[in-house]
Amino acid sequence: MNIFLTWDSSWIWKALFEKLSIDNDVFWVSRNGQIKADLTQNKDIDLLTDKLENTKFDIIILNAGRWYFGNFEDGDLKTYEEIINLNLLANIKLLKKLNYDKKKTKIIFIWSIISKKFMKWASIYQASKFWLRWFAWWLKNEWYKIFFINPKIVDTNFHPKDIDLSKFPQTSIENIVNVVENIVFWKENRFEIDL
Ligand SMILES: NC(=O)c1ccc[n+]([C@@H]2O[C@H](COP(=O)([O-])OP(=O)(O)OC[C@H]3O[C@@H](n4cnc5c(N)ncnc54)[C@H](OP(=O)(O)O)[C@@H]3O)[C@@H](O)[C@H]2O)c1
Repeated sequence: MNIFLTWDSSWIWKALFEKLSIDNDVFWVSRNGQIKADLTQNKDIDLLTDKLENTKFDIIILNAGRWYFGNFEDGDLKTYEEIINLNLLANIKLLKKLNYDKKKTKIIFIWSIISKKFMKWASIYQASKFWLRWFAWWLKNEWYKIFFINPKIVDTNFHPKDIDLSKFPQTSIENIVNVVENIVFWKENRFEIDL
């Protein structure tokens, strides 16, 4: 199988990547990944999708995301634009431009419980996740094979070092990886999976 995925975290994704790579061709994209692209930039997305034009993907995993945690009035517009570009527009552009079969290819969004529940200090991040959740529902209704995974807080590089994550409800990284594996190997059929 050909698997496209957007991430290069320092965390356990690498373990999943290595596992999937045993029997599949994995195309791992991020600014520092195996294939380098800044997904906030149109020119990078164009170069990437041109390069992969002849590769038909069986699985597309969309995970790259960033956030700003704080009062809306304290964040700057540049940050907000980057969040919208990465969390929302990049995924739409990739789904428009990559080569895949809309009825057969599994598309997995590693999304967030914040796309369903209001959280303080998340303004633009919450809006980006919320918007894409409804886009995913539309894709699902058009017969695309869509999977939407909503973790709670996960202990990754995502969070500033000074935040005490133990105060928040958490999802383990292993739990997410297991669900992704189950989807890839046909053991999971649910559209939206809250973790
Ligand atoms: N951590 C949490 O508490 C939590 C909770 C719920 C949902 N989520 C969601 O889970 C997903 C992954 O988050 P994470 O916790 O793994 O965060 P992370 O450790 O910060 O990873 C974010 C990933 O996005 C990539 N990325 C960032 N900017 C990029 C850009 N401009 N172009 C291409 N790739 C870019 C990064 O790779 P490079 O640096 O190499 O570009 C990295 O692999 C996100 O969608 C996030 O919203 C996270």
